[in-house]
Amino acid sequence: MTSPATTLPRPAEPSEAFDSADLIRVTGGTPLTGEVTVRGAKNLVPKAMVAALLGDGPSLLRNVPQISDVRIVTGLLEAHGVSVRQGEQPGDLILDPTSVGRPDHAEIAAHAGSSRIPILLCGPLLHRIGHAFIPDLGGCRIGDRPIDFHLDALRSFGAVVDKRPEGLHISAPQRLRGTKITLPYPSVGSTEQVLLTAVLAEGVTELRNAATEPEIQDLIAVLQKMGAIISVLDNRVIQITGVESLSGYKHRALPDRLEAASWACAALATGGDILVRGALQGPMMTFLNVFRRVGGAFEVEDEPGELGIRFWHPGGPLSALALETDVHPGFQTDWQQPMVVALTQAQGLSIVHETVYEKRLGFTKALIDMGAQVQLYRECLGGTPCRFGQRNFMHSAVISGPTKLHATDLVIPDLRAGFSYLIAALAAQGTSSVHGISLISRGYEDFGSKLADLGAQVEFPS
Ligand code: EPZ
Repeated sequence: MTSPATTLPRPAEPSEAFDSADLIRVTGGTPLTGEVTVRGAKNLVPKAMVAALLGDGPSLLRNVPQISDVRIVTGLLEAHGVSVRQGEQPGDLILDPTSVGRPDHAEIAAHAGSSRIPILLCGPLLHRIGHAFIPDLGGCRIGDRPIDFHLDALRSFGAVVDKRPEGLHISAPQRLRGTKITLPYPSVGSTEQVLLTAVLAEGVTELRNAATEPEIQDLIAVLQKMGAIISVLDNRVIQITGVESLSGYKHRALPDRLEAASWACAALATGGDILVRGALQGPMMTFLNVFRRVGGAFEVEDEPGELGIRFWHPGGPLSALALETDVHPGFQTDWQQPMVVALTQAQGLSIVHETVYEKRLGFTKALIDMGAQVQLYRECLGGTPCRFGQRNFMHSAVISGPTKLHATDLVIPDLRAGFSYLIAALAAQGTSSVHGISLISRGYEDFGSKLADLGAQVEFPS
């Protein structure tokens, strides 16, 4: 099936959209030292906000970071009549869906290209108003990112999908029905799509080959608080028994393990020492194993009120390794890019096989410009053959280190690559100009102040 992403006009490439104010200057050579705090996970918070649409009353979401993805989803929900306002505590968001109605299409179309979240509004909107209009999706350009699994799942529930030049019109001629779905791949978004649709569908839904990322488990916790009946069974099977109605929820978003890992890699690459407050050991176990094998040191703080993980470079050479990204509980693809920067400082040949996104190693070209030795390969190196092996994608990398990095001008292609470029610039000699930092703001709250607090020499010229 063809994705609408390939048939609808695409927004400008990130590099075309940058303006001169969208810039940070980074002078490298200083080890990052100190503390940062991570708040709610970027890959959970927007989905929990969407879940509020399913409730009969208001929801309270806590630990919400100030990132642009939250602002985008706020705009989308408001366009559908959801009231979104700050609560009493910092990070509290109150979402009231009691006045949800059919939106103005032009207002929704204005969100085209901004994020991938609009596709997740389908199930809740079909239940609430019988119709969903989805403009062209945005999100990081790390692969083709089709939405065929989403649309097949919605059709399986009984929805009708109409692809038009301006976007997708999806309707539910009658109440959606529970169904059996087997995902071709354990996709995070498609699993969330099925969960958000099945909870109010009539009867039982059985989802096979589901993704089980901690952010999905947290979304299931949100839905259960609202009154949903969801069983997570063995072997990636999730069973959802539809209910007649759901209430609002009160939930504290789980902390961002992807941001935490980014700071850990920054500590490793700069020879620093960072306590990441809020980081949890459980959802980061696979990352922690790799961090230790590379030669990083960490210490978990798990006393109530003092949760966090301290990451540091213990001195001496780092070790090269072979690494393969995978769905949870494997090594997350979002950890790959910052870790690759750290691996440029490891002794010997490291191999990284990216199996989730076919184009997520493209960011290494800039690292090569900075002096890193990275070779990309079409073959599946150092692990099991993946979906991309026979499809001509440069999805394996061999990194030879350690190499001294030098400053350069960098243009950010996607969110995690953006933070990884900051790490590379911090590990390099000289002053780098990093363009397109608004992409980093999609998922990293207040990163400029956090960097400055850690002793980084950073400057926002505008
Ligand atoms: C989520 O994207 C995250 N985004 C990504 O985070 C993350 O990298 C990814 O999951 C994997 O963990 C959000 O949560 C907003 P997928 P998602 O569906 O849900 C293919 C970051 O930097 N696929 O699990 O869009 C797809 O092309 C970002 O924080 C289809 O073929 O990812 C990919 O190869 C970037 N058809 C694979 O599945 C579909 O219909 C996994 O994608 C859907 C997906």
